[in-house]
Amino acid sequence: MPVVFDEERRLWSLQGQATTYALGVDGEARLRHLYHGPTLPRLEDLPAPDADNARFPFEPPEGPAARYEYPAWGGMFYREPCLKATFPDGVRDVRLVFDDHAARTEDGAPQLTISLRDLHYPLLVRLYYRLFEEEDLVERWTVLENAGRAPIELEQVLSATWHLPRGHGYRLTHLAGKWVGETLIHREVVTPGKKVLESRRGNTSHHANPFFAVDKGNATEEWGEVWFGALAWSGNWKIAAEHDAHGLLQISGGANDFDFSWHLEGGETFETPAFLGGYTREGFGGMSRNLHRYARKHVLPKEPPGPRPVLYNSWEATYFDVSEEGQAALAEKAAQMGVELFVVDDGWFGARNDDTAGLGDWRVNPEKFPRGLGALIQKVHSLGMAFGLWVEPEMVNRDSDLYRKHPDWVYHFLTRPRTESRNQLVLNLAKEEVKEHLFSMLDRLLSENDISFIKWDMNRPFSEPGWPEASAGRQREVWVRHVQGLYGVLRRLREAHPGVAFESCSGGGGRADLGIMRLTDQVWTSDNTDPFDRLSIQEGYSMAYPARTMMCWVADPGQWTENRRAPLSYRFHSAMMGSLGIGGNLLEWSDEELAEARRLVERYMGIRTVIQEGNQYRLLSPRDGDITAVQYVAEDRSRSILFVLRHPTRFQDPVPTVYPRGLAEGSLYRVTGMEDIRSGRSLMGWGVEVLLEGDLASTMIELTEVGG
Ligand code: GLA
Repeated sequence: MPVVFDEERRLWSLQGQATTYALGVDGEARLRHLYHGPTLPRLEDLPAPDADNARFPFEPPEGPAARYEYPAWGGMFYREPCLKATFPDGVRDVRLVFDDHAARTEDGAPQLTISLRDLHYPLLVRLYYRLFEEEDLVERWTVLENAGRAPIELEQVLSATWHLPRGHGYRLTHLAGKWVGETLIHREVVTPGKKVLESRRGNTSHHANPFFAVDKGNATEEWGEVWFGALAWSGNWKIAAEHDAHGLLQISGGANDFDFSWHLEGGETFETPAFLGGYTREGFGGMSRNLHRYARKHVLPKEPPGPRPVLYNSWEATYFDVSEEGQAALAEKAAQMGVELFVVDDGWFGARNDDTAGLGDWRVNPEKFPRGLGALIQKVHSLGMAFGLWVEPEMVNRDSDLYRKHPDWVYHFLTRPRTESRNQLVLNLAKEEVKEHLFSMLDRLLSENDISFIKWDMNRPFSEPGWPEASAGRQREVWVRHVQGLYGVLRRLREAHPGVAFESCSGGGGRADLGIMRLTDQVWTSDNTDPFDRLSIQEGYSMAYPARTMMCWVADPGQWTENRRAPLSYRFHSAMMGSLGIGGNLLEWSDEELAEARRLVERYMGIRTVIQEGNQYRLLSPRDGDITAVQYVAEDRSRSILFVLRHPTRFQDPVPTVYPRGLAEGSLYRVTGMEDIRSGRSLMGWGVEVLLEGDLASTMIELTEVGG
């Protein structure tokens, strides 16, 4: 039984494959966290909800012992609350008590709902727990309902709080970065105080990613206890890790309360994004593999099915200088190389000759495409490829017909300048007419043209987030309403055009999260296409998100991110670790390069299910030395792909032995480039010797099961 209820002690336990999550109601009807760790199937083993309710002298009852499942600000609670609200009579103190519970199966997953209510006011709080047994993960989210008539003002509504066992010496792992340097791994000791990871920019952000992992200071890639979580939200978010001298560590997260408020009318509900959490004893690698499997099975859209195709994107080849002729010439080269999807990036529409004009005017530019998009699409199809297109629907240039017609459609404050970034302003997706316009514009584009793929970009964060037609209080809802609006438009488009796949892009990896992944098939990981820099960005990305979603291009040296001069094979090996794309100017590639690329694309197609659907092992990190090694193993362990990349060679040092993981010990494997057949036990125990000489040398080794 995945969800067990002990009626007598009023406690629940969610049983995953290897973990238990437990919570219970104390003597004062408050919901407390009890346990999150290795499986405890025997209910009697769980602590009673009151067991840790010891009073500390000088500390309030809500103090160090109180690990509330969904803490509200009220009484003497001083830590980060999930909920802070003001009732119609001005009372700003919330007291939640247990009301009811229900367990059922939703879409094949067991789900527990616990209803809390305020002691006095008609505020209902429903906590949802969805258990993914096989992945040992719990998705938590909260729905608030105003069951009265008068409005309630919500000032902070986080999704959930996770509690760790009382202790010290914890270590926090998180992802931070910048444009062209997203999702880099940072690891630090948790000391008393509060560490806040967040975005206040309107998008998920390049600067921090809504993911955390906490270990006891000793976990490795393959071993050790790790508690972790990720938010399914693509706007302002916050994850606060708060630790105190009593050894309590709570991690609260959800849509950011900064500049947030929500006016909850009588009869209305407010739903938070989901905050996924998990526990493993198998280190950071085990954590990532569970997260990857969860995203593949339960998050990513099911349609269109199959592996992610190899795409070509012309951005770095032509920038804004696109034309039917130029794109057709690139398409011919791409098709020869075996590319399956040809994508035209920015510059195809309106007066878009650089980044100063045209955003908002999603009509094909007649000078660049005198015969419309249709002729190019036909050409691409005749070459055997599908066609994809770049859009940036949430934005306008000031120099655009849309902005000239609807200057009030962008976020702005009446008495302030409208700050431009990349010469653009953000459309207000809280407005019904803006959402409607975006849907019908994109719906028309997809209906009139045979398009299989949309790269949905978002190239600037918010500023002056005003919505002058709304009351001052409601204007603060825009942070959440924008994301709801974005999700709504994407959802409607996917329903109307189920064959179209979407890529989430925000100036690179500024919108990579489990929320957008419910509605998009892949993510543009970074505008940085340097194959060595990418190893670190991709390593961090892989902490939380699966390779299938991680779009990587083989790009040219030079370019706007000043890419290193790396051999073509190295560029391929770096990009083959995710969903493969080509981004170079193929018109400048030599025949030898084109032929080598064709061989590598073919090779990738032969192994991509292992990469896109398999289990990933980070064997050697680019953070630790000169060698990066990453391995992928098919679910049934019959095949494995190992990438080893070197940068640079120093003192003629040999590559250290690389130890593959995740193979079947008793099986025999053929290893490309080696004569002998070797057992899984030998490969994992003795390892593999790899010869790599020179800077930016690399290899890809395939292990294939040939018997047991
Ligand atoms: C962003 C994207 C790039 C490209 C440009 C086009 O920077 O991340 O891949 O699409 O916009 O302007």
